[in-house]
Amino acid sequence: MSESQLWDDVDEYFSAHLSPDDDTLRAALRDSDAAGLPSISVTAPQGKLLRLLAEIQGARNILEIGTLAGYSTIWMARALPADGRLISLEYSAKNAEVAIRNIARAGLDKVVEVRIGPALESLPKLADENPAPFDLVFIDADKANNAHYIEWALRLTSTGSLIVLDNVVRGGRVIDAETDAPDVRGTRTAIELIGSHSRLSGTAVQTVGSKGYDGFALARVLA
Ligand code: SAH
Ligand code: DHB
Ligand code: MG
Repeated sequence: MSESQLWDDVDEYFSAHLSPDDDTLRAALRDSDAAGLPSISVTAPQGKLLRLLAEIQGARNILEIGTLAGYSTIWMARALPADGRLISLEYSAKNAEVAIRNIARAGLDKVVEVRIGPALESLPKLADENPAPFDLVFIDADKANNAHYIEWALRLTSTGSLIVLDNVVRGGRVIDAETDAPDVRGTRTAIELIGSHSRLSGTAVQTVGSKGYDGFALARVLA
């Protein structure tokens, strides 16, 4: 058995017992595929991790950067109280359209708002609205802008908030200091910003699973 087949099988085992899917989640992935969107949503165990983190935070307000088909959105929004709010920023109108349908089918359209456009344009507009601080920020969009997204997350959160950054390992490419690849450079800048920032305490954890070898960074916002 190949290593990646084993990672797949273990994810399936954990999923079956700990993060079982349901008609809503299955339909979201099915419609994402049917619309030709890439299969890069978080896995079910990762989605459950995001939900647990939101619950641990007692989150009332969640910000997501990078919606795709709304799969991670649905996992996180399920942690919210009825009067909670999740704002998800998505560049592609096509992706957002698929996501909005998936979110409505999940019965979460009252708490989730998808905003279309480049996140670096949506974020200043959002800040101008003086929203309540976000308890959890999930950054999962164009990796080149990861450090900018961390900076915006700092502006839109408060003490105790949690920032989660997806795809920080990418098969190990993150340690290539000489690379010109914008995604790796953006992620390295973000990691180093988390490490050096006086208001952030962070870590990064390598993962394997049905999406291969990757990882998350987590950063808690300090006073
Ligand atoms: N969070 C999703 C996966 C997101 S994939 C999940 O796990 O289910 C990354 C998404 O970021 C894609 O939909 C892509 O269109 C979007 N994206 C890329 N660049 C962006 C930008 N500049 N602003 C906002 N979204 C962007
Ligand atoms: C890609 C993006 C993601 O957010 C992810 O989780 C996996 C892959 C990508 O752009 O290839
Ligand atoms: Mg991702």
